[in-house]
Amino acid sequence: MLKKINSLGEYFTEYKKSINDPEKFWEKQANSFCWQKKWEKVLNWDFEKPEIKWFEGGKLNITNNCLDRHLKKKNKKTAIKWIPNNPKEKTIDISYKDLHLKVCKFSNVLRSHQIKKGDRICIYMPMVPELVIAILACARIGAIHSVVFAGFSAKALADRINDASCNLLITSDGSFRGEKIIPLKAIADKAMQKTNSIKKCIVLKRTNTRVIMKKGRDLWWHNEIQHANSESSFEVMNSEDPLFILYTSGSTGKPKGIQHSIAGYMVYAEYSFRNVFQYNDGDIYWCTADIGWITGHSYIVYGPLLAGATTVMFEGIPTYPDPGRFWQIVQDNKINIFYTAPTAIRSLEAKGNSFVSPYDLSSLKVLGTVGEPINEDAWKWYYKEIGNEKCSIVDTWWQTETGGIMISNLANVTPHKPTYATLPLPGIQPCLVDQNGNEIKQDSIEGRLCIKFPWPSIARTIFGDHERYKKTYFTAFKNKYFTGDGCFRDKNGMYRITGRVDDILIVSGHNLGTAEIESAIDEHPKVCETAIVGFPHDIKGNGIYAFIICHHKLVNENLIRDEINELVSKTIGPIAKLDKIQFVSGLPKTRSGKIMRRILKKIAQGDTDNLGDTSTLLDPKIVDEIKLSSL
Ligand code: PRX
Repeated sequence: MLKKINSLGEYFTEYKKSINDPEKFWEKQANSFCWQKKWEKVLNWDFEKPEIKWFEGGKLNITNNCLDRHLKKKNKKTAIKWIPNNPKEKTIDISYKDLHLKVCKFSNVLRSHQIKKGDRICIYMPMVPELVIAILACARIGAIHSVVFAGFSAKALADRINDASCNLLITSDGSFRGEKIIPLKAIADKAMQKTNSIKKCIVLKRTNTRVIMKKGRDLWWHNEIQHANSESSFEVMNSEDPLFILYTSGSTGKPKGIQHSIAGYMVYAEYSFRNVFQYNDGDIYWCTADIGWITGHSYIVYGPLLAGATTVMFEGIPTYPDPGRFWQIVQDNKINIFYTAPTAIRSLEAKGNSFVSPYDLSSLKVLGTVGEPINEDAWKWYYKEIGNEKCSIVDTWWQTETGGIMISNLANVTPHKPTYATLPLPGIQPCLVDQNGNEIKQDSIEGRLCIKFPWPSIARTIFGDHERYKKTYFTAFKNKYFTGDGCFRDKNGMYRITGRVDDILIVSGHNLGTAEIESAIDEHPKVCETAIVGFPHDIKGNGIYAFIICHHKLVNENLIRDEINELVSKTIGPIAKLDKIQFVSGLPKTRSGKIMRRILKKIAQGDTDNLGDTSTLLDPKIVDEIKLSSL
């Protein structure tokens, strides 16, 4: 049976066991799943290569574990409770039996288009149940899903389709976001003009937006499933076969296709879900993330369904029709466990308590946060106004690459501490490392956060670029996985994430590469060079500050600012919109041509008196000019 920890003492015992004998520990957890064939070796690893294999020799299918194995006891139980964007539209409950049926049918649709094990399928959809059905249908037949967040632009979508050579795209006519309709199929059409690999595109009708259907390529979802067979045996997969690819930003312009494999991810997704949220049968659990991000993959889809839970899925946005929407949903659906991002908490706090107080939030037992550091003020508001000082707040630190929650308190079992992710989950061996790569043993100190030992859901590679995987995560510090985060450890061994130490910005919980934004801006004909840095932002955590050099002096700076922002929106998506644009005549560079971002960051923060040593710059005078004209 998968172990659910019930007390602080038990946490320490389990943690110790997991470190002393990781193989025995994970083998025990893995035994609670359905396997077509048991594994031969629990773990094989080498961080030098790097190569990590869990449960090798085992055979299974993850949808058998998410769906079929629950059918006996949980046939009628609600698997997905779907809440539409429009509050007047009815909530839909999909039982495990229904979900199984729908996944089987759609998997047969995929098969009818010759989709087979190992093919890559791109999914670009709104937050509707069909998105989960599409994901699970891929997993059922062994195809690798690559979900692209439906807020990304046509170019970003095309880049991701091309990188993974996807041969089928699943999208919808449009997506509702508050009062807006986003024409997803039209965006997908533009993307498909830039790709050669897509042979078929299946389109779900959601918004009744007019779309152009290309003959021979585009197919309506409703037509396809009409005659699909409802019996679908699952493909028997190897433990280490890939389950999905999910793109995340990197420190070069090209996004990284993070690849996870089936068995390890499965074991860790359910283990972490049950333990962190302390899910009890009958609880109603709601994670507000989008399935286009890893949080949605692991803690809307896989973790909860593996645990046979009821997972709530919300199509809309927190402020529509007003900023009380989240709390109304909590009240109406008697949500017990609520998991969201600091940026949402801060923006709802800013709207005032009058949007909270009308609602009865007494069903809540556990609150969660993820995606970026949560500041003390937002933490306290969440604890008091939403949790009525009786809910445990789990501050869950993890990454697309880690597949599941790594450092977090366990709700109502291990203590919470504002702004701290607190303690590692069993099986997770974090360490702090100094700039020279030496492990820091003492406490009350900050360092770079690394992980010393593999855990089952660690990403196995970057799709098509194993060298980049090695370089990004395993070369900075010998024999350790480097997270890219800075971290403080207090005297009780609790961890507080202090933010990225590389060229990645976390903006409203979204992971954006500075290089990606810079190269989008550089496409503007008037732009010569750009440097992006983050600065503290009350709601978004980090705002985006662009220092831009143009070829010639600008006549109308505001016009160019608008054009640049439009370009960024088109190239990456509205999530990457620039908060501040400062035109400059040069950038602070070292003699070897490297931009000194440290100086730009200080200027962006308004801390212009403490720029540190600027004497090594090629042209130190440029700093004074930038300081004087800073916004
Ligand atoms: O910097 C950390 C931050 O988000 C990064 C991972 O981003 P992504 O791969 O998009 O995954 C986000 C959802 C898991 C981390 O390197 N981060 C994530 N959770 C926290 C956090 N920073 C502080 N506290 C957290 N709880």
